[in-house]
Amino acid sequence: MTGADPTTAFGVYVHWPFCLSKCPYCDFNSHVRHAPIDEERFVRAFAREIETTAARSRGSEVSSIFLGGGTPSLMQPQTVGAVLDAIGKHWSVADDVEVTLEANPTSVEATRFRGYRTAGVNRVSLGVQALDDSSLKALGRLHTAREALDAVAIARSVFDRYSFDLIYARPDQTPAMWTEELQRAISEAAEHLSLYQLTIEEGTPFFGLHAAGKLKTPDEAIARALYDVTQEICARHGLPAYEISNHARPGAECRHNLVYWRGQQYAGIGPGAHGRLDIDGGRHAIATEKRPEAWLMRVEAMGNGTVTDDLLNSEERADEFLLMGLRLREGIDPQRYAALSGRFLDPRRIAILREEGAIAISPDGRLRVTQDGFPVLDAVVADLAA
Ligand SMILES: C[S@@+](CC[C@H](N)C(=O)[O-])C[C@H]1O[C@@H](n2cnc3c(N)ncnc32)[C@H](O)[C@@H]1O
Ligand code: SF4
Repeated sequence: MTGADPTTAFGVYVHWPFCLSKCPYCDFNSHVRHAPIDEERFVRAFAREIETTAARSRGSEVSSIFLGGGTPSLMQPQTVGAVLDAIGKHWSVADDVEVTLEANPTSVEATRFRGYRTAGVNRVSLGVQALDDSSLKALGRLHTAREALDAVAIARSVFDRYSFDLIYARPDQTPAMWTEELQRAISEAAEHLSLYQLTIEEGTPFFGLHAAGKLKTPDEAIARALYDVTQEICARHGLPAYEISNHARPGAECRHNLVYWRGQQYAGIGPGAHGRLDIDGGRHAIATEKRPEAWLMRVEAMGNGTVTDDLLNSEERADEFLLMGLRLREGIDPQRYAALSGRFLDPRRIAILREEGAIAISPDGRLRVTQDGFPVLDAVVADLAA
């Protein structure tokens, strides 16, 4: 797998916490405001937090930037430009930096794509979610399938790199329906696709409906069949999974997301952003205030929105390495786990999981989860970490 050198990769995540409406399945830190957002005030606060965070991670060169949300495509292009300028002012940035912006695929937002490219964005990730209007309506989306595909076409004409997201294992979805939809999606895709199984998140409207029996998601057997169809079709079309939900042509993986899964460092900027920074030899898990206006006031008063800054102990660090690394098709280096935790993974547990076909050891000694193991990834990780 290519991408920035995994030993030096350093990402900056910037969170834009606003959406036009809240989708009923979503538990991301996103908020709807009926008054206009004061983008200039946010820019000043982002720049301030970038400055204080960069001061704690000197010597790192930024290899990827990700503007996520919420809906970052609601930001004016000059707001995006100002955030990128602030990052360039306070960090050294690699010449080939990957700069991704998450966009909702409405016609209004697609008109801003050129402006984003001028501002320095070189990759977009669009939340298409489904390719038929009744599913989009059921997901509470504000766009039609036609509008989404038009936005994909605009992304293709403006950016060399783009990806889009689909949600599958939706209510009443059969493997035959998903096969057709996925094939259609692949014909519109270029180098990268994110394919997420619908998760019912606590606290969302879908959670209440599901609990009341009013929203039925596919049972385990159908979910497994949908997953298998996904792997088979994507691999056949040259878009194998490089992570449990992410597919790319070899070399076109999202470098920023690889930073998370490979346990590298990243700074989290904006409301509710998370970071992992190595400071004075220790790995810090940092999180900022989630509520946008409270985050603003905190940054204005103190220079950053940090609410938790925990030094991870060796066990926490090793568990995180395992949890994140095993999501990747490339798996993990067990020696690195041992170096972090001070102990080797239990050879008996490894042997049992191998026998069950849930994990495999590559010729170079890396430990990875197999296609049969991915649907039960959480159990595999729990077993190995025990
Ligand atoms: C931060 S979100 C959104 C990006 C953008 N706001 C949008 O909705 O188009 C990133 C992706 O997570 C996925 N996602 C969010 N909630 C999900 C859920 N409950 N189950 C599965 N996928 C989900 C969606 O595919 C979404 O595009
Ligand atoms: S899925 Fe995207 S648009 Fe919908 S609420 Fe979540 S972040 Fe906002």
